[in-house]
Amino acid sequence: MQEILKKIPFFADLSEEDLNLIRANVKMDYFPEGHVIFEEGDAGDIMYIIKRGKVQVLRENSIVAELGDGAFFGEMALVSDVPRNATVKTLSDVEVLTLSSDNFKSLVNNNPSIASMVSVEVIKRVNDNF
Ligand code: CMP
Repeated sequence: MQEILKKIPFFADLSEEDLNLIRANVKMDYFPEGHVIFEEGDAGDIMYIIKRGKVQVLRENSIVAELGDGAFFGEMALVSDVPRNATVKTLSDVEVLTLSSDNFKSLVNNNPSIASMVSVEVIKRVNDNF
């Protein structure tokens, strides 16, 4: 698991101590092609990092993005405590790592590099969706 984590940009800058913490808390999950992981308007308490595969992000049935290996999604509902702002559907078989809201928030609070990566992406995504 540690080797997998080090290859994912989201976790790249973490100390060994933080990596151990993640290793203890991250879960792996798998979805087949064509699966809706969650829908716009759902409540959200998990964020996802794509280990392998591709997903489509849709708002009001229009595609706003495609995300692949190493990308993350599902962070916005956790950051702002609001419902999911888009539907995420798999375009291939997809393997993900998932973090609970509490683990994600503690990672963001304790790691400036992750906080900065998440905020850059959130601002970009909010702008794209205007
Ligand atoms: P969240 O709102 O929790 O659930 C839907 C997710 O889709 C959202 O978090 C982001 O991770 C992702 N998302 C929303 N808009 C975009 C976008 N324009 N580009 C890429 N990802 C997006």
